[in-house]
Amino acid sequence: MRINVVTIFPEYFSSPLETSLVGKARAAGTLEVVLHDLREHGKGAHRQVDDAPFGGGAGMVMMVEPLADALDPLDETHRVLLTPGGRPLDQDTLDRWATLNDLTLVCGRYEGVDERVAEHFIDEEVSLGDYVLLGGEVGALAIIEGVTRLLTGVVGNPLSTETESFRDGLLEEPQYTRPSEFRGWAVPDVLRSGDHEKVAEWREAQRLGRTRERRPDLLE
Ligand code: ADE
Repeated sequence: MRINVVTIFPEYFSSPLETSLVGKARAAGTLEVVLHDLREHGKGAHRQVDDAPFGGGAGMVMMVEPLADALDPLDETHRVLLTPGGRPLDQDTLDRWATLNDLTLVCGRYEGVDERVAEHFIDEEVSLGDYVLLGGEVGALAIIEGVTRLLTGVVGNPLSTETESFRDGLLEEPQYTRPSEFRGWAVPDVLRSGDHEKVAEWREAQRLGRTRERRPDLLE
């Protein structure tokens, strides 16, 4: 799979793209990430990519022209804009994108992006959540990680991408490893009982209880 990233900060991505399973997937050729420096399409001697908003107001708006020039050659790809005004990113969306050959992530910055970009150059707008960051770069990294772990051969045990939180609409149950007791805090007996049926029942109950308590919206 190839993921294009359009950003004014390509250097932001260097270490995360080298690290862990994303680095390995790139080295193995399972994943290719192409960074497109929006500044190269900037206007004038200062390579300007933002300007004051029509109608007045605080902050700067990313200009349509540099983004159009960057995105025109990528018009065969699925183009996603990262913006707090987008639809919240979820697992179903990552599952869908992980089946694509080409995905393009456009990182917004400043107070926003000229609406003509979203109208004419973007297929989907997504947000990381109901809070405002400085730009879309963290979101692009989140998507790269979330998609990469779904690519064939990246995660050792495919069961671990099948049984995790959200895939069936519930949060994951608590997990424990050795030691069985630490500072007097013991691992629940049932997990050490060897009774697989009881363990499965306990896990299901934990998943439901946790989801009810922390994310009742998922149960609706
Ligand atoms: N850019 C700024 N805030 C963002 C958010 N919450 N999600 C995606 N992109 C953003």
